[in-house]
Amino acid sequence: MSESKAAKGLPTSIDETLDLLGKADYVADRSLATVLYLALRMGRPLFLEGEAGVGKTEIGKVLAATLGRRLIRLQCYEGLDVAAAVYEWNYAAQMIAIRLAEAEGAVDRDRVAQDIFSDRFLIRRPLLQALEPDAAGPPVLLIDEIDRTDEAFEAFLLEVLADFQVTIPELGTVKAAHPPIVVVTSNRTREVHDALKRRCLYHWVGYPSAERELRIVRAKVPGIDKALSQEIVHFVQTLRKEDLFKSPGVAETLDWASALSELDVVALDPATVSDTLGVLLKYQDDIARIEGGKAKQLIDEVHAELRAAE
Ligand SMILES: Nc1ncnc2c1ncn2[C@@H]1O[C@H](COP(=O)(O)OP(=O)(O)OP(=O)(O)O)[C@@H](O)[C@H]1O
Ligand SMILES: [Mg+2]
Repeated sequence: MSESKAAKGLPTSIDETLDLLGKADYVADRSLATVLYLALRMGRPLFLEGEAGVGKTEIGKVLAATLGRRLIRLQCYEGLDVAAAVYEWNYAAQMIAIRLAEAEGAVDRDRVAQDIFSDRFLIRRPLLQALEPDAAGPPVLLIDEIDRTDEAFEAFLLEVLADFQVTIPELGTVKAAHPPIVVVTSNRTREVHDALKRRCLYHWVGYPSAERELRIVRAKVPGIDKALSQEIVHFVQTLRKEDLFKSPGVAETLDWASALSELDVVALDPATVSDTLGVLLKYQDDIARIEGGKAKQLIDEVHAELRAAE
């Protein structure tokens, strides 16, 4: 594959990066588009950290879709190991092959060993798949929620990301001719090691501004009433200023917008808000705090703010 093929379809400016994301209804701010553009240009992994439900995972998906590349997702969890992340030998198939060889009276042990540690008994997991060539161009490797893995795996990942290669003792080293596009996300349940961050370009994904959140809602919930979408976004933005155990993310705003639109709501009122709070807030203590009087106060604030802006 030529260098130009590896760079096929990649944006050539920050504006083009914004447009690319926009094609898949991802409304990014300029700072995210800038760091993404640089990561693509420089061939460096992009490390996205931020609150829950603010569009970190979506970046990986949208990139693969708009660039026409394969999406390979490594979902991280505690205890994730090489067998689940890189490769594993198909023991069951190997056992059968050994039995068959025995039944056929095979005597050459080295030959049998060589056979069972060959390509066809290898199960490729996401990291290995991401190193292999793809006709559409290097794939997008989404390493999601890295903060859930343990530090030993993180150190291993660092090695893979440094050289884009893995060594399989029985087979040899697999090295990517063209490195994949890597997006790493973290919810910051723990700090990820500096060494890993150093390899990446870093961006904190915060809650969007009201203006951007409104564009997201209108893009993702087509047909939503203009005035209602404004009330929804301003309400959520006001809610995020409250001292809550878990503030609503963009995902919750979108769910709430769909729910209210489904219920044919035309304007926010305290009863509707209280009845549908479970779409926005997922902790009983938070719901109890906002329900009733507080909901009314927030709606009044939103209405005053919107009137002032007219
Ligand atoms: N800027 C945006 N433009 C369009 N849609 C967005 C944007 N940000 C978030 N969304 C939408 O919000 C939802 C949640 O996004 P996503 O799953 O990427 O969040 P996340 O940051 O990975 O959350 P978590 O930490 O919970 O995994 C998705 O449906 C996504 O489409
Ligand atoms: Mg996510």
